[in-house]
Amino acid sequence: MARLSWTALLVAALANTGAGLSIARGLPRPTWKLLPTGTTARFRGLAPVSDKIAWVSGLGGTVLRTTDGGLTWASVGPAPSESDNTTALDFRDIEAWSADKAIILSIGEGNSSRVYVTGDGGASWTRSFTNEEDAAFYDCIAFESPERGMAMSDPVDGKIRLIETLDGGQSWNIVESAGMVPAEDGEAGFAASGTCLATTAGRWYVAAGGVNPSRIFRSGDGYTWDVSDAAIAGGEGAGVFSVQFRDAEHGIAVGGNYSDPTGNINNAAWTKDGGVTWLPATAFPDGYRSGSAWVPGRGFCNTALAVGPSGSDFTLDGGKFWHRFDNGSFDSVECVEGPVCWASGEKGRVARLVLT
Ligand SMILES: *[C@@H]1O[C@H](CO)[C@@H](O)[C@H](O)[C@H]1NC(C)=O
Ligand SMILES: *[C@@H]1O[C@H](CO)[C@@H](O)[C@H](O)[C@H]1NC(C)=O
Ligand SMILES: *[C@@H]1O[C@H](CO)[C@@H](O)[C@H](O)[C@H]1NC(C)=O
Ligand SMILES: *[C@@H]1O[C@H](CO)[C@@H](O)[C@H](O)[C@H]1NC(C)=O
Repeated sequence: MARLSWTALLVAALANTGAGLSIARGLPRPTWKLLPTGTTARFRGLAPVSDKIAWVSGLGGTVLRTTDGGLTWASVGPAPSESDNTTALDFRDIEAWSADKAIILSIGEGNSSRVYVTGDGGASWTRSFTNEEDAAFYDCIAFESPERGMAMSDPVDGKIRLIETLDGGQSWNIVESAGMVPAEDGEAGFAASGTCLATTAGRWYVAAGGVNPSRIFRSGDGYTWDVSDAAIAGGEGAGVFSVQFRDAEHGIAVGGNYSDPTGNINNAAWTKDGGVTWLPATAFPDGYRSGSAWVPGRGFCNTALAVGPSGSDFTLDGGKFWHRFDNGSFDSVECVEGPVCWASGEKGRVARLVLT
């Protein structure tokens, strides 16, 4: 059952305020409806446009697109050529504006970090960025408007590296690093769900890990940055995997330890002051979580989802209490107007959840 009455959940949750949220027995629980893609690629890249149109991307240079709500999928990735073997690439992040326009980011060392753009539904792709810096490793890409976007790399010369486009991804420039605060030794982002870089209301955020405590960087313009402790346990392969804001003040962050998929301590935090102060969740998501998403729309303003290899959780209070609702493995989640949420992950898994 893919439908769920969130109004009923909300009423049940409010009735339990104080004692911690516990969802009353007998109410419908959200359930992902799996949408077979016919492939086994791992899709960490996810970009729904509407309840009908969505793009996923991942290993093997794979990009799939549906225009019928996930009933059928077309393979629309860049065609490998002799001079550009895109089959070797892993498109860990994708942004899309329609069934025609999308931008994909491949991750990896050296020239494996690349950006490709399509304006015709994937019939043709143009490579618009190829990394030339040895130390760079791009993790995530995000757009604040159809024109302005940035991509984020692990530190180069001791600072998180950013590139910027002002023309919808056609051309890219390295952002001057003077306004970026220094990274700590071992600090880096996670190319796990396309949400280690986020932008809302003109502000920018970078989620990082590799050090303890893990940290979240923030900027009012993408050029001048500050950083705060994230209240999420960090270390090797551990830290903040995903940061998302619903407005200029309210944000959630999730993560944990990639090597400990069911570890459920200190793996989520929330803020109400734009990321200056992060507080640990009161009830954590039930395992390491790689992706998170706010649910848009009236009546959902404090609702968000988190996904990871050991399951999915929701919060109805802006990230303080998380409740597991599914045990399936996903890496990425994103919601669009409707509201409709989409999730994607390993073994070609894609799913959808219609909220009512
Ligand atoms: C392209 O890359 C794939 C995956 O790494 C590899 O299996 C294949 O042999 C490569 N093709 C060419 C023509 O180099
Ligand atoms: C990437 O680098 C390899 C060798 O380091 C080179 O053979 C290949 O042509 C380069 N590809 C692109 C697209 O620049
Ligand atoms: C992550 O989990 C693995 C497996 O349990 C453990 O060996 C490692 O120490 C953990 N790392 C951190 C930073 O907690
Ligand atoms: C998830 O798995 C656990 C342990 O097997 C089980 O107790 C729980 O009911 C499951 N939750 C859901 C939402 O399926």
